[in-house]
Amino acid sequence: MFKQTSLSLALAGIAATALAVHEPRVEPEGAPPAYAVACPEGAADAGACEVDQLTYDGWKTYKIECQQCHGGGGMGSTFAPNLMTRFNESGVDYGRFLYVMEHGYQGQMGVMPSLAKNPRVQKNKDAVYAYLKARADGAMPNGRPPKPDDTPPQPQGAATNETETAAAATTAPPGTASAAASPAQAADAAPEADNGTGGAPSYSVSCPEGTADAGACTVDQLTYDGWRTFKIECQQCHGGGALGSTFAPNLLVRLNEGGVDYARFLDVMENGFQGQVGVMPSMAKNARVQKNKEAVFAYLKARADGVMPNGRPPKPGS
Ligand code: HEC
Ligand code: HEC
Repeated sequence: MFKQTSLSLALAGIAATALAVHEPRVEPEGAPPAYAVACPEGAADAGACEVDQLTYDGWKTYKIECQQCHGGGGMGSTFAPNLMTRFNESGVDYGRFLYVMEHGYQGQMGVMPSLAKNPRVQKNKDAVYAYLKARADGAMPNGRPPKPDDTPPQPQGAATNETETAAAATTAPPGTASAAASPAQAADAAPEADNGTGGAPSYSVSCPEGTADAGACTVDQLTYDGWRTFKIECQQCHGGGALGSTFAPNLLVRLNEGGVDYARFLDVMENGFQGQVGVMPSMAKNARVQKNKEAVFAYLKARADGVMPNGRPPKPGS
């Protein structure tokens, strides 16, 4: 019931915007398949996580049938797109996914083949969707997840929307911390400096389901200041929304896959570093960055967690 409502809202929103390129889609009969994934905080490899059978099967099928084009972990290649970006920024949802699996399509980047006659894909398409959604939500780093044992984490009910899916995704096994600020927490909780994750600044962001622009979201002052500071001080290198440029990396990937946590972030702001891509300058003498570094981290974390699409968020209280 709720699912139907939110889905048609999402469809109406998408039809009205530039995302029409990602039509057509089918109306799915059931709820989008939900993943259940739990990873230790800061894990940079899926090997450290626990996943359910569906997500594991999705990873395996993806690796055999999709990876040669879409790259390891859905991160894209020179001839097929990053699927996390398609999910998070281009409005690819379960209905669009099912359509593409059935019919394929030709887009600006190239040809996505129909997989209607591929029995492995047909059998496992829900699993592949669950896997890619876990990746797109930032719930699961790249890498090979362990085969589920006898006590996998269970999906919590039928997760039919972002919030519930994220809640299932961040159910941590005993002894581990869940994601720094899950969408579920972020939607309700007031921003606080310490959310039990070692003092990393947390964001508070809530967006309508399926939105592709941060302008539709509500964000707290910290996240807004972070967006603004990023735009002035970081975007010229790291690209809009931290998605990377030819000479500086995608920071969503660095946070999700590269193990950049708050401590590493502070170190880099202070000392800069030279890596394989180039030189990240020290920001120690940049007063605006020093004043707003917690805000920038909160903003980047919201982006990396898949909680906030690209774009300019509204000023809080406006
Ligand atoms: C032969 C290469 C190839 C294979 C194999 C392949 N894809 Fe694609 N796929 C593409 C290309 C190229 C595009 C981008 C088309 C464009 O936008 O121009 C694409 C686009 C997509 C999209 C985005 C749809 C949209 O509306 O933006 C999804 C989702 C997708 N593929 C999923 C998969 C999955 C899942 C598999 C494996 C089951 C898979 N693909 C296998 C080449 C491939
Ligand atoms: C002059 C260009 C430039 C500017 C401005 C810049 N960066 Fe970078 N940054 C880089 C490059 C290049 C790298 C990649 C270095 C490598 O891995 O080779 C990088 C890497 C990083 C990393 C990854 C650290 C890691 O361990 O992988 C973080 C985090 C980062 N930058 C944050 C920021 C933030 C936040 C700002 C703004 C306050 C910023 N950068 C401004 C060029 C820049």
